[in-house]
Amino acid sequence: MLFDVRPKEDRKDLYDRDKEVEEIKESVERKVWLAVYGVRRVGKTSVVNVAINDPKYIVVKFNLIRIYDPKKKKYPKSSFISLFLESVNEAIKKYTLGGRVVRFISNVLGIDEKSFIEFNVVKIRAKLKRFRDEDLSSVIRELDLLSSDNKKTLVLVFDEAQELLKVNGINFPSFFHDIYDYCKSTTVIFTGSTVGILEKTLKGLEYEKPFFGRYIRRIKVEKFNEEMSKDFLLKGFDEEGIKVNEEVIREALKRFDGIPGWLTFFGAEYSFRVKHGEKADIDEIEAMAIEEVRKEAKDFISNTQSPERYSAVILSLDRLGGHGSLRDVTKVVNSILNEVPEPRVYEILNRLVDVSFIEKEGDEYYLPKDEPDRKGLVLASKDILSKVS
Ligand SMILES: Nc1ncnc2c1ncn2[C@@H]1O[C@H](COP(=O)(O)OP(=O)(O)O)[C@@H](O)[C@H]1O
Ligand SMILES: [Mg+2]
Repeated sequence: MLFDVRPKEDRKDLYDRDKEVEEIKESVERKVWLAVYGVRRVGKTSVVNVAINDPKYIVVKFNLIRIYDPKKKKYPKSSFISLFLESVNEAIKKYTLGGRVVRFISNVLGIDEKSFIEFNVVKIRAKLKRFRDEDLSSVIRELDLLSSDNKKTLVLVFDEAQELLKVNGINFPSFFHDIYDYCKSTTVIFTGSTVGILEKTLKGLEYEKPFFGRYIRRIKVEKFNEEMSKDFLLKGFDEEGIKVNEEVIREALKRFDGIPGWLTFFGAEYSFRVKHGEKADIDEIEAMAIEEVRKEAKDFISNTQSPERYSAVILSLDRLGGHGSLRDVTKVVNSILNEVPEPRVYEILNRLVDVSFIEKEGDEYYLPKDEPDRKGLVLASKDILSKVS
């Protein structure tokens, strides 16, 4: 179903994206490492899931959002190791891999194999300290061996990979270097929403000494254009067996600006309400989306060094009609707060670009064009400024 709000897994549920799916498949076949990037909710996870949903591959997904915490500048090593083991465990169960990998991991942890297979969190958590960087690499080597023995390709997916930068005490360049050098049946896919930060993470891997010269292929997932968005909504509503008048479609296109995640959420919610005889009101549905962004943005802004300044920068862009140059923004910021120097505004604008809350085109900075992201961001800023004044 097109309007299923979870990330898609099956080709039939994914609208379009033929080109991206082909590119990913081809790269995996050639063992070229990949980074799939694009803004939040554009469909990165879905495109990757669908592309690698193939019996020729053994897939291990490390979903770094599971350790994501906006309040933390750094994550302890143990959070990553725990996620790592859990992800490997899921793959072992899914593909019934067992054998050497399980033996290796339970040996390192000093627990019995059954406890690992059943993923006994209490026992495992107590032993995480025993797991060293080399052991992470060894697990991947074992999985690579198993894959090549089975004539399969091992695909490692690091979803929202920018979070790796925040893990303390693990030498990722050397971890990935080891995979690159020794795991000949393996390929790695990184995805990331905060484009600027993902780029920094990758550059770190590509240029840090042991990884020098290795190139990771980038694939950008773009928003839907207007024609695609319309077709997506019509096909989706058709699948749901729901008639929607043109005015509603037109409104949705205007408000959601081709963000697949919002179109999907809107379609799902609208259909549900119609089917259950409830009032299907686009304003109400949009308000839910705005609320989601508002929380995300508030979490992010509150944990920066100067929440008021970040908020003032965002409000200034809003007051300027949604976009402005550094000069214009600085002027407006200084009418809201006192004495914020231009270099500081510059720094904040670029940080907001890095985490994909705003965009930069030429010398202009832009708030998102879709309403949930724009309004959510602005409301979060107002919340924060009203709290301090
Ligand atoms: N091409 C697509 N066809 C159908 N649904 C999509 C498509 N792209 C994204 N979606 C939907 O949009 C939402 C966000 O997708 P997701 O893959 O989680 O995005 P991302 O990983 O970029 O944040 C999910 O509900 C997903 O089902
Ligand atoms: Mg995702």
